[in-house]
Amino acid sequence: MATRIADASDPEAIREAARIIRRGGLVAFPTETVYGLGADALDPLAVARIFAVKGRPRLDPLIVHVAGAAEASSYGIFPGPAHGLMQRFWPGPLTLVVKKAPAVPDIVTAGLETVALRVPSHPAALALIRAADRAIAAPSANPFGYVSPTEASHVAAQLGGAVDLILDGGPSSVGVESTILSLDGEVPALLRAGGITLEALTALLGTVEIATDPGAKPQAPGQMKRHYATRTPLEITDAGGPAAGERVGLLSLGPEDARGYAAVEILSPTGDLGEGAARFFGALRRLDGMALDRILARPFPETGLGRALMDRLRRAASR
Ligand code: TXA
Ligand code: MG
Repeated sequence: MATRIADASDPEAIREAARIIRRGGLVAFPTETVYGLGADALDPLAVARIFAVKGRPRLDPLIVHVAGAAEASSYGIFPGPAHGLMQRFWPGPLTLVVKKAPAVPDIVTAGLETVALRVPSHPAALALIRAADRAIAAPSANPFGYVSPTEASHVAAQLGGAVDLILDGGPSSVGVESTILSLDGEVPALLRAGGITLEALTALLGTVEIATDPGAKPQAPGQMKRHYATRTPLEITDAGGPAAGERVGLLSLGPEDARGYAAVEILSPTGDLGEGAARFFGALRRLDGMALDRILARPFPETGLGRALMDRLRRAASR
């Protein structure tokens, strides 16, 4: 049976979603980054269903979503530098990795001694966490390895039938996942580029170690080389176009010469990275739905949100 999609701005829908979470069910819900697939973080059986529905390996830990910094302190042990970060960037697209509190089940952290915590800023996400009165473990609401969902319809297309309710809170405004910063070592370490820029973190912290290279020792166990991937082969190139008889799609941040392409996604007419990020995953999905031979993606400038976008693009292109 197809899963019902409920309007996240309806308080009754939030109450129903909260009841589902409290009785061990799964709710797909909007966040400012991407849609999440949520379950009660303290219920190992409910969390196990997340892994099953996504087809996600158990060694890939989940982010725990909470309503605020005070709630976060029940699940993790926050060192000094965390406080400025929480004050500045929460609620918002920053996930902090810290030593875990005993309350967090092993299945959530894949057996690690650390836990990833974040306070989302989407009002429906916060309303759901508060109404359920639970911490909510949630990965992105897509089958493992595929393009992340930024609209309720993306979730319905792929996980409809497998989850108990989908809350529709409109398109995600940031459009790429949260930045993951580990505070477990001597120096704060960037584990995943995302919605909060490295520049913003460095301005506050001084030094940030960058641990995101695909070649680097995988510090974030879930940072698979191939991820966020379209079924259609994707190449990153700043030159070249379609050969004769070939159906090729073009993905570009700003305006481009689009002659000869079967489909074109220009993310922002002014080349704005914020607008580009908000439209990125939706554009990849549309191109992937067109039975193209190939997708060509123009590289993003690697500053600000462009760092997160290039990370997603490189993983999508990886074979
Ligand atoms: O924006 C987001 O973060 C979205 C929304 C739904 O909040 N969630 C998300 O979850 O992107 P997911 O599961 O697709 O990616 C979470 C990643 C894992 O793959 C893993 O790399 C990292 O978070 N992670 C979780 N716990 C960790 C830990 N204890 N240590 C290091 N990395 C961890
Ligand atoms: Mg994901």
